[in-house]
Amino acid sequence: MIRGRPSTSLVLGTVLFACILLTYLGSGFARDEWGSNLNRAKWTSSPASRGESDVFNKTLGFDRVFVIGLPGRSDKRDALTLMSSLTGFKLSWIDGVVGDTIPDKALPFGWDRETMRDSNLGSWRGHINAMRHMVDGGISSALIVEDDMDWDVNIKWQLAQFAAAARSLQNGFHQNQTLEPPSPYGQNWDMLWLGSCVTTFDEDLPEDLQIPIEQRDPRKIFIHDDPTMPSPRHILGNGSFSWDNYPAHTRIVYVPGDNVCSFAYALSASGAQKALQYMGLEGQHKPFDNHLSDLCRLRINGMRCVSIVPSLFVHHRPKGKISGDSDINKGDENEEVREVGFTENILYSTRLNLKNLVRGLDPEKQWVG
Ligand SMILES: *[C@@H]1O[C@H](CO)[C@@H](O)[C@H](O)[C@H]1NC(C)=O
Ligand SMILES: *[C@@H]1O[C@H](CO)[C@@H](O)[C@H](O)[C@H]1NC(C)=O
Ligand SMILES: *[C@@H]1O[C@H](CO)[C@@H](O)[C@H](O)[C@H]1NC(C)=O
Repeated sequence: MIRGRPSTSLVLGTVLFACILLTYLGSGFARDEWGSNLNRAKWTSSPASRGESDVFNKTLGFDRVFVIGLPGRSDKRDALTLMSSLTGFKLSWIDGVVGDTIPDKALPFGWDRETMRDSNLGSWRGHINAMRHMVDGGISSALIVEDDMDWDVNIKWQLAQFAAAARSLQNGFHQNQTLEPPSPYGQNWDMLWLGSCVTTFDEDLPEDLQIPIEQRDPRKIFIHDDPTMPSPRHILGNGSFSWDNYPAHTRIVYVPGDNVCSFAYALSASGAQKALQYMGLEGQHKPFDNHLSDLCRLRINGMRCVSIVPSLFVHHRPKGKISGDSDINKGDENEEVREVGFTENILYSTRLNLKNLVRGLDPEKQWVG
């Protein structure tokens, strides 16, 4: 009996040790160092005290961050409110518009209700309302995002890298309108397209979308060794180029040729005026994002646009009924259910890490390798 004791406690001790070791290793494998040491503080803290760029402030270095969403989609508001609070910024909501509430008399020039869906019309109106709100309120710059967005928990760090690259691209832009007051993103931009789903560079535009050679701008600024960049096999949306031609972990900041999807874009005061003029008053006969792309690609009203690929904002596909994803597309009739949510191209997804973040744990990658 007495002899049995040491061996019992030895066994217990070994088991306990193994448990501790496993817990330690387990958490070590699942979560990793990027995001913990360097960035934890940056998700939430304010910049001024630490002498950091305004990119780290409560509105990401813009005057405001607007989210467009239908009031009825309380599920999306819950998610975005929690996500932005956990990554350190504040949202201002702009109510989306249900297309069939727009009277015929208010239709944009060229809009055909027979061939185009009212949901596309509503989407257009929501974005135009955001632009008008900026012009009306004399807002110097705003990020405008759609309400199903996701972003990396390191978004502020990413935006700081982007801001430096965007400033350097602006050396080649005209300076007819200068941002007041100074913006961390530079003084000579109209639009920063931070969330799109397909990228075609200026020099690769297909025949029907080409612009005059003297207008093309093939300049690219690389953000090297970006630890928030997924490996190429997890990146979608390189419409005109292969990632094989660029070093691994490199994000590209460029002047957009043709972008698809208006997930997120920032406008300066002059950008909002130009966009409201073209997108609101000039006419509209196709989906909003295609029109937004024309605005940049054709340099309409002297637009100065900068974009980044892979995008920093991408729509999240939540678990649940697939028909709930989009307020533009009707969705599947058969009410298919998605078991696991995902977000393309975002490595440390804020949405998928909410459970970790609310407990104060480090974020996990969506893909390992
Ligand atoms: C964040 O910085 C921008 C640019 O300097 C500024 O316009 C905005 O007011 C700041 N936001 C807050 C909440 O201080
Ligand atoms: C996108 O990049 C991948 C390599 O990561 C390549 O296989 C694919 O062909 C590219 N797409 C286009 C349209 O070039
Ligand atoms: C900038 O202003 C000059 C006149 O000062 C004008 O000739 C030029 O077209 C303007 N450029 C753009 C892109 O608006």
